[in-house]
Amino acid sequence: MTRLIVQLSDTHIRKPGELAEGRVDTAAALVRAVAAVNGLAQPAAAVFVSGDLVDSGKPAQYEHLRELLAPLACAVYLLPGNHDDRDALRQTFANDLHLQQGSPSYIHYAVDLDGLRLVCLDTSVKGAAHGELDEAQLADLDATLAARPEVPTLLAMHHPPFKTFIERMDDYGLRRGGAGLADVLARHAQVDRIVCGHLHRSISARFAGRLAMTAPSTAHALAFDLGPDAPLAFTLEPAGFLVHAWSGSAGMASHVVHADAYDGPFPFRFS
Ligand SMILES: [Fe+2]
Ligand SMILES: [Fe+2]
Repeated sequence: MTRLIVQLSDTHIRKPGELAEGRVDTAAALVRAVAAVNGLAQPAAAVFVSGDLVDSGKPAQYEHLRELLAPLACAVYLLPGNHDDRDALRQTFANDLHLQQGSPSYIHYAVDLDGLRLVCLDTSVKGAAHGELDEAQLADLDATLAARPEVPTLLAMHHPPFKTFIERMDDYGLRRGGAGLADVLARHAQVDRIVCGHLHRSISARFAGRLAMTAPSTAHALAFDLGPDAPLAFTLEPAGFLVHAWSGSAGMASHVVHADAYDGPFPFRFS
């Protein structure tokens, strides 16, 4: 049986009526993304959101996020990014016991999705835009992965561990712990791929011999400019999310799906 695991990312929710960056209606964008997920031809088995859940870590923003995610028809898993506040996230979603796992300084949990495992790793650093993984986290990850070596695993984290060549974002990437993460992965072949956010674009790379990728944002996209000293800027190109399709016999394929409705589908005419 094929299972669909949906990855939303960088939802950047603000209070009702507020725009992100003075221009982006991130709430309306998430409404469209949630509708698109609920309208998938095959239902999603689970949804996770790979960080920058809200725009500036405020409890009212998390309350709004909760309302916007409520229509999703399946289980939803959250992990923080640099725009989040770990304590506010944990307090607002106090009933989400996964978010309470880890330590005071990081969230760390694993969920079993019926033969596939989702392991969430928290790269956020309080008050900073870049990401880090410390020794304690890496030891926790090592133990988590050692507990279920036979189960194919999706490792989710906000900051990607690879260079994207978007220089300003690489400056705010995973500054610490990347080599340690590679060492941990070398001991756990069941980690199929590493799925990240933060870049507001779909980017794929190889990290420690694994497939690694970032998801588009459900709202604004990072402008595509690989030039040296390119300024950080965003565009309103089509938003979307990733759908990781998986079966025990065939493995996993990750698809970019756009959130907006377009004309079609039209049947091919084969003539
Ligand atoms: Fe973001
Ligand atoms: Fe981010």
